[in-house]
Amino acid sequence: MNRVYVCSCFGVTEQQVKQHVENGACTPRQVASACKAGTDCGSCVRRIQALLGRGAVPRREPAVQKGPVLAAALDEAA
Ligand code: FES
Repeated sequence: MNRVYVCSCFGVTEQQVKQHVENGACTPRQVASACKAGTDCGSCVRRIQALLGRGAVPRREPAVQKGPVLAAALDEAA
């Protein structure tokens, strides 16, 4: 079995995120409310955005930031 973790904080796999996308999630925020992925350290938000595709990556994004970057990324992507 090839299990690729997107969110290691909550053990959410790529397959699970894709499933949520198929079920209608189209922003990282919606994925987060479905499976919590991205709601802890936030380091997986970019990967979630990549899985969502369609240029969901926020344009203005601080290169390295801890903490509030998650909320900012989720807000910009929503
Ligand atoms: S890896 Fe997803 S919130 Fe930390």
